[in-house]
Amino acid sequence: MGSLFDFMLPELKSPLTGASTDALMGFIHLVSFIILAGVTIAMIYFAIKYKRKSDDDETPLITHNNTLELTWSVIPLILVFIVFGWGYSGWLNLQAVPDNAYEIQVSAYKWGWTFSYENGAQVGNEVHVPAGRPVKLVMKSQDVLHSFFVPDYRIKQDVLPNRYTYVWFQAEETGESQVFCTEYCGTSHSDMLAKVIVHSQDDFDNWLASQSTGGGETPVERGESLLTLQGCITCHSVDGSEKIGPSFQGLWGSERNFENASSLTADENYIRESILDPGAKIVQGYQNQMVSYEGRLSDDDISDIIEYLKTLD
Ligand code: CUA
Repeated sequence: MGSLFDFMLPELKSPLTGASTDALMGFIHLVSFIILAGVTIAMIYFAIKYKRKSDDDETPLITHNNTLELTWSVIPLILVFIVFGWGYSGWLNLQAVPDNAYEIQVSAYKWGWTFSYENGAQVGNEVHVPAGRPVKLVMKSQDVLHSFFVPDYRIKQDVLPNRYTYVWFQAEETGESQVFCTEYCGTSHSDMLAKVIVHSQDDFDNWLASQSTGGGETPVERGESLLTLQGCITCHSVDGSEKIGPSFQGLWGSERNFENASSLTADENYIRESILDPGAKIVQGYQNQMVSYEGRLSDDDISDIIEYLKTLD
C-alpha cells in the first residue's frame, strides 16, 4: 500500500497541512476499490448464475425490493457524508493559521511571483522559509487570477487582484519544493513556476540578513511614512487618542462594530476596503467623512501601511 501511495502522490513535506488530505485520499481510493471489486464480482456471478439455460426459461416479474434499494441508497449516502465531513475539517485546518506563523508577502503577476520579507528584501520566484515553523503567505495579484500550488505541502490557494488571500504550511525538513501557478492566466501560465527553499532557522536568518533590502526601508517604515505623507494621521491617531476618525492603535485584529450593526475582525481585506472605499463600513460613533485613496496609493503602498498598522497594538 505504501509504495502504491507514493506512486499517486509526491512525498508529503508539510504533515500539518497535508496529512488529513492524504488520509482522505487513501480512504476514497480504498472505498472505490472495494465497490469496484464488489460490483465486478457480483456482475460475473449473476451472468453465470442467471444465464439462459433453455428456450422455455422465463424471467420472473420482480417490481421492486425495498430492503435492497434502501441499502444501496443509504450506504453511499453515509460514505458521502464521511467524505464531506473529513474534507471540511481539513479545509478548516487550512484556514486556521497558527498564531506564531512567520509572515511573507506574496505578489503574483503575469508571469511570476515576488516574495517580500519584513526587512524589505524582495525575491523573485524563490521563497525561502525556515524549517519546523508555520509560514503564512499573504497573497495578492497585480493583474489577473493566479493560484499558488505546492503539491509537496498539499496546499492550493487562488491569488486575486484587489483582495488578499492566505495560505499556510510548515515544512519539517530542509530542502526544496516546486510551486506551480494552477489557474490559467495567459500565454506563459505553464512557465509561472517558483521554488520553496527550506533552510534551518539559523541558515534562514543568515540568508535573510544577506539579502539586499533596496532603499533600506522596511515595509513597516514605508507604511509609517506613508501615513504622514498622505495625511492619514491628521484624522487617525496612532496612540489611541480621539480624533475625527478611529485611532489606528489596537486596530489590527480587533473586533470592529459598525453603524449598520454588523461587525467583523480587522484583517488585511477590511483595512484595504477602508482605504479604497471608506464609506463601505462606518465604525460606530463616527461619521462617513473620509475620501477614497483609490489611485493615490498603490497595492504595495496599502500592504506597507497594513504592515505598519499590525505593529500598533
Ligand atoms: Cu499565473 Cu497561471
